[in-house]
Amino acid sequence: MQSKDHWEKVYTTKKPDNVSWFQPHAELSTRLIRESCPQRDAAIIDVGGGASTLVDDLLDVGYAHVTVLDLSHAALTESRRRLGARGDSVRWMEADITRAEFEPHSFDLWHDRAVFHFLTTPEDRVAYVRQVLRAVKPGGYVVVATFGSDGPTQCSGLPVMRYAPDELHAEFGNAFTLLAHEEQLHHTPFGTDQQFIYCMCRKSAA
Ligand SMILES: C[S@@+](CC[C@H](N)C(=O)[O-])C[C@H]1O[C@@H](n2cnc3c(N)ncnc32)[C@H](O)[C@@H]1O
Repeated sequence: MQSKDHWEKVYTTKKPDNVSWFQPHAELSTRLIRESCPQRDAAIIDVGGGASTLVDDLLDVGYAHVTVLDLSHAALTESRRRLGARGDSVRWMEADITRAEFEPHSFDLWHDRAVFHFLTTPEDRVAYVRQVLRAVKPGGYVVVATFGSDGPTQCSGLPVMRYAPDELHAEFGNAFTLLAHEEQLHHTPFGTDQQFIYCMCRKSAA
């Protein structure tokens, strides 16, 4: 099954709060975003945002330029439904992150929770990093969360990569400085725990 078909099926057959990655609030992501980009006019993209409540949290604290990108139309529709009129201020992009078209240097901050780790081929990871290099402003921030070295080997029935913070940083290369990393034990709605690592990097100013 193609990746888009897989994710459309997930979001049309499961309730948003009944998937392993569900969080009522994206607290750690919101904190890292607020710490790195406190200015509320910062342009922020949540890559593979799915039906995540991160966008709600960002609007709640006053961010005015939020983009949510996902492969799945159904996921974006669910977030728009949940937000109602508040969602009109958000830019919604239905696209594959390895091929999406971005204006150069259009974002102050790039956020990804649980998407990069689905890229199991070097070609897809190189394409993803190329997108970050194009879309993030010089000196901008990149917050990426993946399963940690002791995390699950699959998610949503798909194989995933697992990373230690230095391994994840190495995927992004010398144009990015690793500023901080944090581990999180995510409690799934099914009573299990998953190890995540969050890396915050800064893109070089040049
Ligand atoms: C495990 S979910 C995480 C969703 C969200 N980031 C969160 O933390 O709740 C992975 C998401 O990545 C999206 N996705 C997977 N591959 C993608 C790709 N190549 N381009 C864009 N989105 C993708 C899926 O549709 C899904 O919404």
